[in-house]
Amino acid sequence: MVVTVASVKGGTGKTTLVYTLAGLFAAEGKKVLVVDLDPQANLTFAFIPPDRVPEEASSARLFQRRPLSPLPVADNLFLLGASLKLVSYDSRPSPNDWRLPSIALAAVRPEYSVVLIDTPTGLRPLTKAGLFASEGVIAVADPSPFAVLGLLQLAQGLAELRERGGKAPALLGVVVNMVDRTKVCEEVLATLETLVGRGRVLGQLPRTVRVKHALMHRQSVHLTLQGTPFAAALATLKERLRKEGMP
Ligand SMILES: Nc1ncnc2c1ncn2[C@@H]1O[C@H](COP(=O)(O)OP(=O)(O)O)[C@@H](O)[C@H]1O
Ligand SMILES: [Mg+2]
Repeated sequence: MVVTVASVKGGTGKTTLVYTLAGLFAAEGKKVLVVDLDPQANLTFAFIPPDRVPEEASSARLFQRRPLSPLPVADNLFLLGASLKLVSYDSRPSPNDWRLPSIALAAVRPEYSVVLIDTPTGLRPLTKAGLFASEGVIAVADPSPFAVLGLLQLAQGLAELRERGGKAPALLGVVVNMVDRTKVCEEVLATLETLVGRGRVLGQLPRTVRVKHALMHRQSVHLTLQGTPFAAALATLKERLRKEGMP
């Protein structure tokens, strides 16, 4: 299954979620391909310095009709890494351009149990390219007053994709990240549940600085946070994702 993690609002935890889930699936012996479509290359950097990604493992190749060879970065885990070259594909609004990764990924997809795509914040062409190449999308929201707006904007974007491109991934649901005990968080959660339906809030991951540590030190999140409320929330999320067709 090919799944894009997206949010219109920045800094909600898209990259962190892709990194966390990829580590979790790979640890279970599932072959995982992660695709970094964000020119900021944060996900790439979580595995390897971006300048060490060989040309044939560069996600920019998805737009170039050239052969791909994803880079093994850990057991069962392969990467198509981002570089600044991606920026040039972010200024091409034509559906013909954002369709290319869909075609390129279809060729390598059968080799993997799951393909996870990290996208830049917003609904720019690179995000659309990721969405168009996917069967499912996970929206990430943080418990801020703008979370609801961001989600509505993403839904609009999916509708536009369906209209202009002829297809769009199914919204698997929303992951609320950086959940804390504040009143604002409680209110945002309630509003999101009303908006998408309780069952579509796939998980609520607590705010904890240990997540940052794990990424900084290139450690797996689920192992670093073993035994914590975050790990329990992650297990619940994983179970929900399995019901949505993920491994
Ligand atoms: N559950 C969490 N608790 C605390 N900090 C988090 C959590 N998830 C993400 N972060 C931090 O929030 C920041 C934004 O996360 P990131 O994954 O880069 O967001 P995005 O990819 O959506 O821009 C990063 O510094 C990350 O370490
Ligand atoms: Mg990111």
